Amino acid sequence: HDERTFVMAKPDAVQRGLIGEIIQRLEERGLKLVGAKFMQIDEELAHEHYGEHEGKPFFEGLVEFITSGPVMAMVWEGADATRQVRQMMGETDPADAQPGTIRGDLGLDLGHNVIHGSDHEDEGANEREIDLFFDDEELVDYERAD
Ligand code: CMP
Repeated sequence: HDERTFVMAKPDAVQRGLIGEIIQRLEERGLKLVGAKFMQIDEELAHEHYGEHEGKPFFEGLVEFITSGPVMAMVWEGADATRQVRQMMGETDPADAQPGTIRGDLGLDLGHNVIHGSDHEDEGANEREIDLFFDDEELVDYERAD
């Protein structure tokens, strides 16, 4: 199969009713949804997922936010999927993100930036994050019709 990448609609996206729009944008781009889980992240998973940020000044707030309500964890598949999603998300801070990007159009601020995607510059981030959130048998295989 093509490259798989981990994507998460964060609690602010769920609370603001933006899950559909995020999924629609990724679908329209031609990426294929192969896994999805509507779930609440607990303290332990938050620490594992954001472990690289442990010790940074925003870490505690980040954990508090990401555990504050349900998220939609997803796996999307496609050629160069990680970089494609990265491009569609835009810069981490919505204020710096280009219009037309998900964060540029929908994000409010650095913390409330509606979406997380695996870092394409971090080798192995994809696999690590997919494994953290999904069992192998929760990921499906099918052909898109387009
Ligand atoms: P994300 O791609 O999910 O990875 C870590 C998150 O930390 C990031 O998006 C931001 O939403 C959040 N964050 C909050 N403050 C900062 C900061 N000062 N620098 C970077 N990321 C931050």
